[in-house]
Amino acid sequence: MLAGKCGSWMRIMGVTAAVVALCTVVSSAQTLTGRWVAMGRMLHNGEQQKDIIELTQDGTVLTGMVHGMGYEIPIKGTVSGTHFELMGGDWNDNRPFVVGDLEDGKLVGKQFGHKFEARPATSADAFPKLEYIEPPALHVVPNNGLAKTPPMGWNSWNLFADRVDDQTVRTMADAMVSSGMKDAGYIYVNIDDTWEGLRDANGVLHTNSKFPDMKALTDYVHSKGLKIGIYSSPGPRTCGAYPASYGFEGQDAKMFAEWGIDFLKYDWCSAARVYKNEQLQPVYQKMGDALQATGRPIVYSLCEYGLGNVEKWGPEVGGNMWRTTDDIRDEWKSMMFNIEKQVPTAPYAGPGHWNDPDMLEVGNGHMTGDEYRTHMSLWALTAAPLLAGNDIRTMSEETKSILMNKEVIAVDQDALGKQASPVKNGELETWVKPLADGGVAVGVVNLSSKAMPATVRVADVAPGKSVTSARDLWKHAGVKFVGGAYSSTVPSHGTLMLRIELK
Ligand code: GAL
Repeated sequence: MLAGKCGSWMRIMGVTAAVVALCTVVSSAQTLTGRWVAMGRMLHNGEQQKDIIELTQDGTVLTGMVHGMGYEIPIKGTVSGTHFELMGGDWNDNRPFVVGDLEDGKLVGKQFGHKFEARPATSADAFPKLEYIEPPALHVVPNNGLAKTPPMGWNSWNLFADRVDDQTVRTMADAMVSSGMKDAGYIYVNIDDTWEGLRDANGVLHTNSKFPDMKALTDYVHSKGLKIGIYSSPGPRTCGAYPASYGFEGQDAKMFAEWGIDFLKYDWCSAARVYKNEQLQPVYQKMGDALQATGRPIVYSLCEYGLGNVEKWGPEVGGNMWRTTDDIRDEWKSMMFNIEKQVPTAPYAGPGHWNDPDMLEVGNGHMTGDEYRTHMSLWALTAAPLLAGNDIRTMSEETKSILMNKEVIAVDQDALGKQASPVKNGELETWVKPLADGGVAVGVVNLSSKAMPATVRVADVAPGKSVTSARDLWKHAGVKFVGGAYSSTVPSHGTLMLRIELK
C-alpha cells in the first residue's frame, strides 16, 4: 500500500511538502520524536496541502506515520547527528524522499530536490474530525455488461500528474484520433486526480480553474468518437488532497453521468482515514450502486493498490477492473515488480472484470525500447487494461510501433479473457496465454543483462498439440517450428512474443 501512496505522493508533492528518513547524529538534547507539520503546495482549488508527521526516534532509527489530507503513510528513517533521511515504511523502492537536518527546532531539507520544512505541530494543526458513515450491508451489484475485453485508452496521471487541464485533454483527444491510437482500440480519455475545485453548501463539487466547463469538455471528447473518464475517492480527499466523494457518492455519480462521463477511477486514498481495509468491499459497493443508479454505462475502475484481496470481490461491487499493485514508475524494476505481483490474481480475470497492474509507461523515456516492448507484451499477455500514460501528441515512431502493435493488442483483447501466468527457467521467463481460437500467445522475457538464446517447445506451452502456424508479434513475421520447437535470440530485457495456432 505504501508504495502506491508514496508513488502518488512523489508525483503530487514533488513541488513541496512532506515525508522524511533521518541520517544525522542528533545530540541527546535533540530528538525528532514528536508531531511535525509540513505545509505543502497550494492546490488548484486555492487550498493548501498539509501533512502531519508523527515521528519516534530510537537511537538512530526513526519510525512514524504521515497523516496527509489524502493519505496515511507509514514511514521509517535514520538519523545521524542532526541529519535525517525519511522513506516510506514498506516502499519497494526504498529511496529517501525527504533528506534534511534538524535546524533551530525545525526539520529543514529537500523533498525530491524541492524545499521541505516542518515545524512542531500544535493542537490547532489537527485535521477536522470526520463523521463516520457506516458502509452499506453487502449485496451483489448487478453486472453492468461493460469491459468485455480489457479497457483501452489514455490517462493523464503518469505524465502530467497535477498539470492536467482542459486544453491537455482536448489536444490529447485530437491526437488519439490523428495518431491512429483510436483506430488501434484506445477509446477512453481519462482525467485523473486534480480536476476538483471546492464543494459548495449544496454539496455540489465544482471543478477548479483548470477545467472551466466539464460538460463542454466531455462533449468535445465524445465528438471525436472517444469516451471520457474521471477520478474520485471514497474518502473525504483524493490522494492529491482535493475534495472527494465521501458522503456524496450518489450526488457525485449523478453529476458525472450528467456530464457524460463513461469511466470512473475510484481511488482509496483518504478512505484509510475513515475505514479499515476490511471495509473495502462495502465502501466500493456504495459507489458501484451509485453509478448503476445513474442509468449511464460507466466503467468502474477500483484503485486500491491490491489491498483486501480485491480480485475475490471486485465483480460483486460492480467493478470492471481493480488495481493489483502499487503505482507503477517508468523504470524496469517497478514495471517488473508490478507484473510479478499480478501473478496470484490470474484465476480472477475474465470478460467484464480485469486485474490492473497499473497504467502504461511506454514512451515516457526511462526504459529502453526492448523494455517497453516487454512492458507492452506482459500487459497484453496478462489481459491488463491498456491505458497509455505518455504524450500521445509527440510520440516517436518506436513508441507508436509499440503502443499500436495490433497483433499484440489482439492478444490483450482476446475474447477468452485469460490472464497468462509465468514459468521461470533461470533468467528466461515464459508466459502462456490461451486464446479464444484454441491457440496460445507466448512471451519469453529475458531478465538478464545480456542477449540470450531461447527455445519455445510446443510440449511445454501446449502439451499434446501440434503447431499449424506461428508468428513473431514484434517482427510481424511468420516463424517455423521444427521438431516441435522454435529458437531465437532475445535481447536483454526484451521479449520474444509468439502467437501459435494449434491443432
Ligand atoms: C494514486 C493512484 C495513482 C493516481 C494518484 C492520484 O493513489 O494510484 O494512479 O491516481 O493516486 O493522486
